[in-house]
Amino acid sequence: MSYNNIIVEDGDGTAIITINRPSKLNALNTKTIQELHDAFQDLEGDKDIKVIILTGSGEKAFVAGADISEFADFDVDEGKQLSAQGQKLLFDFVENLGTPVVAAVNGFALGGGLELAMSCHFRIASDNARMGLPEVSLGVIPGYGGTQRLPQLVGKGKAMEMIMTAGMIDANEALKCGLVNHVTSQEELLPLCEKIAGKIMRNSPTAIRAAIKAVNANYTSGINGFAIEIEEFGRCFGTADFEEGTSAFLEKRKAEFSGN
Ligand code: COA
Repeated sequence: MSYNNIIVEDGDGTAIITINRPSKLNALNTKTIQELHDAFQDLEGDKDIKVIILTGSGEKAFVAGADISEFADFDVDEGKQLSAQGQKLLFDFVENLGTPVVAAVNGFALGGGLELAMSCHFRIASDNARMGLPEVSLGVIPGYGGTQRLPQLVGKGKAMEMIMTAGMIDANEALKCGLVNHVTSQEELLPLCEKIAGKIMRNSPTAIRAAIKAVNANYTSGINGFAIEIEEFGRCFGTADFEEGTSAFLEKRKAEFSGN
């Protein structure tokens, strides 16, 4: 598939998606959101891809937000539509992907950019990264899941402060409050993501898919996460990966998971 606003590279079980509008600090316009959706969907269907890393091009930004120039003259219905469509196509889609998605936050992650990073399964930042939800400074609120996912990650009080002040936090503060899992230098960001991806890749893709579903169930209203865990746990017993994983352990050899 060919794209205008993103670059997709794959090899060795990992795919890297780079959002590539550096002159606009990789701001998310509708076309970029659609391209990201298509790329994630395509990679999800590729059994050779075990981990997806998402980053931004250039040294300055992961994503500096939704593209303000696109929605500045929207009315109420268009605003609702923008939020609903974006959540469905990209943010919820990424969160519920069965393939692990790691955000490599390489600079500004603001507004929709932080919301996208928060939709990923976890985040690693370079030391120049700055994160925030500045929407109220524009007279609007986060619309791509930020009011829901930020409190899940950093707690309600910290999220309220970040949203109300519209301020930015640096990578170390993000690490302290649990918004990112690791902070490293700009040069080491992708190598560290790939190193962690390597650890993930040794494990069963079917079990990882089930684990993502069970963990996400805790954050889905009206769903009992414990019940989903029981169901997914049981389902694992019917997989080739379970047979391989347990046999390999008992035979004292390394498991070779087929992902079935
Ligand atoms: N939407 C559209 N364009 C954006 C953008 C966004 N969210 N963020 C940055 N850009 C564009 C700028 O308009 C500028 O384009 P131009 O050169 O054609 O004028 C270009 O990206 C570079 O940005 P600039 O503001 O000149 O860089 P900076 O280093 O001075 O400031 C930021 C960086 C991130 C602090 C600043 O760009 C910013 O505040 N962006 C908006 C962040 C935001 O509010 N996001 C939430 C949106 S809901």
